[in-house]
Amino acid sequence: METTMKKLQMVDLKGQYEKIKAEVDKAVLDVVASSAYINGPEVKAFQADLEQYLGVKHVIPCANGTDALQVAMMALGFKPGDEVITASFTYVATAEVIALLQLKPVLVDVNPDTFTIDPVAFEKAITPKTVAVVPVHLFGQCADMDQIMAISKKHKLHVIEDVAQAIGADFSFAVGRKQKAGTIGTFGCTSFFPSKNLGCYGDGGAIFTNDDELAKKTRMIVNHGQSVLYYHDEIGVNSRLDSIQAAILRIKLRHLNEYAAARQKAASYYDKAFSGNPRIKIPSRENKSTHVFHQYTLVLNGADRNALREHLTAKGIPAMIYYPVPLHMQKAYTDPRYKQGDFPVTEKLCANVISLPMHTELQEDDLKFITDSVLEFVTKNA
Ligand SMILES: Cc1ncc(COP(=O)(O)O)c(C=O)c1O
Repeated sequence: METTMKKLQMVDLKGQYEKIKAEVDKAVLDVVASSAYINGPEVKAFQADLEQYLGVKHVIPCANGTDALQVAMMALGFKPGDEVITASFTYVATAEVIALLQLKPVLVDVNPDTFTIDPVAFEKAITPKTVAVVPVHLFGQCADMDQIMAISKKHKLHVIEDVAQAIGADFSFAVGRKQKAGTIGTFGCTSFFPSKNLGCYGDGGAIFTNDDELAKKTRMIVNHGQSVLYYHDEIGVNSRLDSIQAAILRIKLRHLNEYAAARQKAASYYDKAFSGNPRIKIPSRENKSTHVFHQYTLVLNGADRNALREHLTAKGIPAMIYYPVPLHMQKAYTDPRYKQGDFPVTEKLCANVISLPMHTELQEDDLKFITDSVLEFVTKNA
């Protein structure tokens, strides 16, 4: 008998773990037995593996993606009052560290199709105080790095890529060169939060750079500003990746491309089911960037989002709103410079986006059930 209730998850970490259980369990127990819990050989080995995968000179592991952004800005020596431009449609961490370091977050609107920073708006926001831009490769697809790099070069700005949601994505420059997301700007910053495309089993993060001097400084900053024990040349932080997490990440890194392919396959199923429906806008896929689908996010056009979410919840299908409130409307980031209506694309997205389950373990019957359920609602409520 056909069931109308199915238990689905936004992210199936357990299902993914079960497939690599033997390998992961052994690696974790090996670290436990080694007692090299902090900065052990697994951390160094993961660092080298990731450098090779990304094609970047330096990977500096740290405690989480928020720290990665903070440490990158500390390494660049930005001073209070310096302006850092970023997208108004992003996770709070991007702007949080700018504010925390007493720099001035300058928000700009995003492209309605890619959800990433609008290069024209970025250039318009540059002032003599601007020191950097933080493009966020939101939901798994790169921002337009051709334009962002060209504008940044012209205005001598640093580019700090927030690649927390797009590790493994490739960006193809107009000149034909291809680079991994996060290896293009001065720094790339990522998160290994469990639900990320490359996630560990706790918190973790990393900073990428091709600059030897900056790498050296960054490595000191994550370790209390020291390169020789108890000699502190910089003001630093304590931000380390645990050896156990590094051991897990080494295993998962070997599967990262296959994980991306599974996500892309699920996204193609969703695309096919929803394309052409006037009430649903499917995620755009840009020629310049591969999409690793950290999220599969629809933009609703006239469909009631809350009612759709309730309809899905009643069938056991989770759906999330990334993100319900634009940064400039968040209480903590209220600023006389900004008011409602200033970032119309972001505000429209915040009111109309809905993300469907997206992970490596989705089966065709899951996808059919989800798409049928969305379409049932949309058709009924047309
Ligand atoms: C775009 C973006 N930037 C930064 C972060 C911060 O990462 P973490 O949660 O590891 O601090 C996240 C993760 O949640 C994110 O999605």
